[in-house]
Amino acid sequence: MGAATRTAVVTGGASGIGRAISLRLARDGANVAIFDLDRTGAEAVAAEITTLGRKGEVYQVDVANRTQVEAAVQRVRRELGPIHILVNDAGIGEFVPLAQMSEAQWDRMIAIHLKGTFNCTKAVIQDMVDAKWGRIVNISSVAGLGGGAGLVHYSAAKAGIIGFTKALAQEVGPMGITVNAIAPGLIDTPILRKSDLPEEQVQQFIETIVGRTPVRRVGIPDDIAAACAYLVSEEASFFTGQVISPNGGMYT
Ligand SMILES: NC(=O)c1ccc[n+]([C@@H]2O[C@H](COP(=O)([O-])OP(=O)(O)OC[C@H]3O[C@@H](n4cnc5c(N)ncnc54)[C@H](O)[C@@H]3O)[C@@H](O)[C@H]2O)c1
Repeated sequence: MGAATRTAVVTGGASGIGRAISLRLARDGANVAIFDLDRTGAEAVAAEITTLGRKGEVYQVDVANRTQVEAAVQRVRRELGPIHILVNDAGIGEFVPLAQMSEAQWDRMIAIHLKGTFNCTKAVIQDMVDAKWGRIVNISSVAGLGGGAGLVHYSAAKAGIIGFTKALAQEVGPMGITVNAIAPGLIDTPILRKSDLPEEQVQQFIETIVGRTPVRRVGIPDDIAAACAYLVSEEASFFTGQVISPNGGMYT
């Protein structure tokens, strides 16, 4: 399969890591369908993809909503053709101690990250089975490997994504489809500013992490896009059920 013929769906492609992944996959020859709640952000990324000479299409969906996801996937098939690559990146950040965590906060975190990954993967998998080729990359987190204070719901969702990845890798490996997870360390994106944490605490959090990170910096979205570009490449075909963790050497 020639790289230029590939169609990728990137959830959360309007911002941060998903944006960098969308642009990188386009540079590597894919047409990209961006699934995001943020239409304006997604349209800006789609316009950048167009200037790279690829098709970039926007689908405004909540990944936690199965009906919306399935309708969007049908549209992608009509507009860009069958889907070969799926990157499950859409997500939110939130710090809240367990004692104060509401059921709604727990449910929302699990719905976006874990059910969102289920919804999108289930909606596209048949295309990959039919093509006998596919690449699925799920964005987990170091919090899914080592946990984090105030992140019980987030860590549980991200650890769940790792279990999902390993199980599906076994199921679809015989069909030419690989499924891997990326567990980034702290990456400089808008996500931290979208949580309710005051700016002072955000800065403190970043400084603490950088101090504990051997390479002494936070990650940038392109660090993750590079890992993703490898995992979706032809030469990564022996790589499945893996969790790779670009984290500057800081695991927990
Ligand atoms: N930034 C980090 O330090 C870091 C570290 C590890 C893992 N991650 C994970 O990386 C992924 C991307 O995070 P980011 O840092 O780029 O954040 P970001 O806020 O810059 O981007 C997240 C994107 O997901 C979209 N999104 C959120 N909820 C959605 C929903 N229900 N349906 C569709 N789209 C939705 C947002 O609109 C946004 O465009 C997340 O899954 C996050 O948990 C981030």
